[in-house]
Amino acid sequence: MVCIFFVVCPAYCSDYFVDPNGNDSNPGTIDYPFATIPTAVTAATAGDTIYLRGGTHIYTTTISISKDGTSGSRYYMFAYPGERPVLDFSAMAESGSNRGIILSGDYWHIKGIDVYGAGDNGMNISGGSYNIIEFCRFYENHDTGLQIGGGATYNQIINCDSYYNADSSLENADGFAPKLDIGTGNYFYGCRSWQNLDDGYDGYLRPSDGILTTYENCWAFKNGYLKNGQASSGDGNGFKMGGSDDKTLRHNVILINCLSFQNAVKGFDQNNNKGSMTLYNCTAFNNGSYNYNIPLALASGSTATLTNCVYYLGSNSLGSFVVQTTNSWQSPFSVSSGDFVSVDPSAAYGPRQADGSLPDITFMHLAAGSDLIDGGTDVGLPYNGSAPDLGCYEYTVSNVDYPPASPAGLSATGYNGSVGLNWNDNSESDLDGYNIYRSTTSGSGYSKLNGSLLSNSNYTDDSVINNTTYYYVVTAVDVNEHESNYSSQVSATPADTDAPATPTGLIAGAGDQIVILGWNDNTEPDLAGYNIYRSTTSGSGYIKLNSSLLSSPDYSDSSVTNTITYYYVVTAVDTSSNESAHSGEVTAIPTIYGDFIVNGIVEIDDLAYLCNLWLVNDCEATTLADIDDDCTVNFYEFSAFANNWMIIPPDINAPAPPTGLSAMAGDATVSLNWNDNSESDLTGYNIYRSTTSGSGYSKLNSSLLSTSDYTDNSVINGTTYYYVVTAVDTSANESAYSSQVSTTPAAPVTSITIQENTDGYCGIDGTIDTNHNGYTGTGFANTTNDTGQSIDWSINVLATGTYTFTWRYANGSTTTRPGNLIINGSTVVSGISFPVTSDWDTWTTVSTNVSLTTGIKSISLESTTSDGLTNIDYVEITGPNLTTATCQ
Ligand code: GCU
Ligand code: CA
Ligand code: CA
Repeated sequence: MVCIFFVVCPAYCSDYFVDPNGNDSNPGTIDYPFATIPTAVTAATAGDTIYLRGGTHIYTTTISISKDGTSGSRYYMFAYPGERPVLDFSAMAESGSNRGIILSGDYWHIKGIDVYGAGDNGMNISGGSYNIIEFCRFYENHDTGLQIGGGATYNQIINCDSYYNADSSLENADGFAPKLDIGTGNYFYGCRSWQNLDDGYDGYLRPSDGILTTYENCWAFKNGYLKNGQASSGDGNGFKMGGSDDKTLRHNVILINCLSFQNAVKGFDQNNNKGSMTLYNCTAFNNGSYNYNIPLALASGSTATLTNCVYYLGSNSLGSFVVQTTNSWQSPFSVSSGDFVSVDPSAAYGPRQADGSLPDITFMHLAAGSDLIDGGTDVGLPYNGSAPDLGCYEYTVSNVDYPPASPAGLSATGYNGSVGLNWNDNSESDLDGYNIYRSTTSGSGYSKLNGSLLSNSNYTDDSVINNTTYYYVVTAVDVNEHESNYSSQVSATPADTDAPATPTGLIAGAGDQIVILGWNDNTEPDLAGYNIYRSTTSGSGYIKLNSSLLSSPDYSDSSVTNTITYYYVVTAVDTSSNESAHSGEVTAIPTIYGDFIVNGIVEIDDLAYLCNLWLVNDCEATTLADIDDDCTVNFYEFSAFANNWMIIPPDINAPAPPTGLSAMAGDATVSLNWNDNSESDLTGYNIYRSTTSGSGYSKLNSSLLSTSDYTDNSVINGTTYYYVVTAVDTSANESAYSSQVSTTPAAPVTSITIQENTDGYCGIDGTIDTNHNGYTGTGFANTTNDTGQSIDWSINVLATGTYTFTWRYANGSTTTRPGNLIINGSTVVSGISFPVTSDWDTWTTVSTNVSLTTGIKSISLESTTSDGLTNIDYVEITGPNLTTATCQ
């Protein structure tokens, strides 16, 4: 028999045990436990205790508890001592009817259990009264963790946590919700509510009026953020004190020593409440919009009172009707971080103490010397010193030696072979030093690097391997060996980013089609080699000559042409591919010996130069001509000079780019033409094509073109092609591109001519004659001289569009002999004029345009005067696509 707490247990009271591994057919003893809570509830009578064993109790349906105890004889449902039962409802679908526990009974005391994953509220105290819910946790339910309603009165919620509750409608899930039709007298003490989708505590009120809810020592933080830390789309208030649809109902609330911080929106929020709101010694910190928000007028008889309250970081919105006394934002107080032992709230998330009470933290505790100490007004709460303090923690001079604060401002910088760390000095008077910890995994697995405590707030970690990422945290330690929590983590990746020194001493010597370069060795131990760069412009346009790194400080450049001026620079590269800056530039003009007046030929001017120095004995003056360095220009130099006499250098002059390029498009073909180049050593042309203007050209010809034209048959109608042409000489020097031309090949318009003896000719009111000269085909059509006389043709229009009808005719008469063009029985052009020609042997044409749709067309040209038509040689019809057709 285990009867505990302040209960006078009747002689007959019993204990029942529920274990997920039990069986509901068991008697429910500790050795033969039940499997489920409803079975135990059915078995129990007032005064009995139901113990839940540790582990996971899976439920897929709501547990309804409706039995009533009495003030003298409660029902108890407790965690078995030392164990933590988890009621796991997570198999439930999200639905308003899928609450975890519905408590409608009175006088229950439920303690030490977790309610997890319900499809709606974790627990709903629906009409139940005088219950005590203690040291329970409500998390990841699909609506509010613990909701109280249905007229429920005088329930006490003690030391409970509610967190990570979230509904998929994204608007309902609070931590605790004493709301809607709740009754009066409900009381929260020592509760925490964090990272719920909507609010920490929601007192929104609908049908009730004038009821009272009290919160003491309760915390709300980070509401409006989800488990994963992301902002939710809920309201995000810490304590929502009321609110109503008609804005006349009053939810009277008292908040004592409550703490609200870092909620997404407001810390303590009126939310339209018309009732009385009394806040004594509350603390708010850095809430998203306002810390204390009571801006709207109250119902008559209601009051809003804030006494001894504090906020740090953020602002308030308080109506002038709010009675404010000795709050931190009022004169003479000023608030800074120095008023607090700690402004780091991380410890507030920590585990509760063994008895379920809140964790001991230093966050928002007043620091010695703060003007908020003893600055408050006596509201009847216990206090130390001469007067109450401001805020939710009364300052006590105690023997408790708190560990130092976690060091702030840690930074890490990766260098070559080391990481430099620095952080802010801690300010504790009993600080002894720091420890630095490192891991190669973010967030875990740290090992301490230092042997003895570090006395300075910086450290160089040189036991690192380049290109590895290291994660660091630092702690502070006091003289009593109390160590702070880890600081925020930083990371760094040491790497060799130091380029070698810029090479020095670069010199170049030029010879016949060669430039030889040398420079000083670099001394870096990680040197990998050198790159040599060349340009024909000083200071820019360098191109690397070597394909792999040069291992020694010299290079022979034989890809040079005599008489061209070359500019060289060199760089050094290390094993991490860091490359130095360019060395100083040197210049060289390769040339054959003797070409002193550099033009590529050893000729008369050079001979004059040599003669001028002949037998001169002066090291400086003779440098260029003194090939054997004996400081005298003598027979040796002369014979070398003579050996090169009149050697003609290779031709390096490219032809001029061709001019006058034109392109003419045809059906799947493009004809190109350009002006002949005039160079005597010209050997041909290359033609290049692209489908992009200005770039991406490919050569079309496989061998050089010998004439200045080209037909490109590898084209597709409708594509625009861009062409350039180059000229090439016998030394394979190729000119720059000519100007670009472009054209778009396309199928031609179709044209048919119908003679009197060809397909499509269908007849005449008259005769086919041959008695005048100049006709084509086998004759011409001569209508009877009268009105309504016609010549008929038949065509098949294959593409809708505009077609041109052209008749060749001779009119040796004196009138224009007009005709109508009739197509499929409708006159489409009237009065086409056929002006007189000089005689019946003189032929000309007349044309008219007609829009035609596709299909067979019967065509008639019909006289409109008694003169009939002129003599018609043929009709020609031109348009997008057509053929002749069988006569209809
Ligand atoms: C003359 C001429 C005919 C012509 C005729 C006319 O007879 O020879 O070719 O058709 O005049 O006026 O219609
Ligand atoms: Ca200390
Ligand atoms: Ca004819």
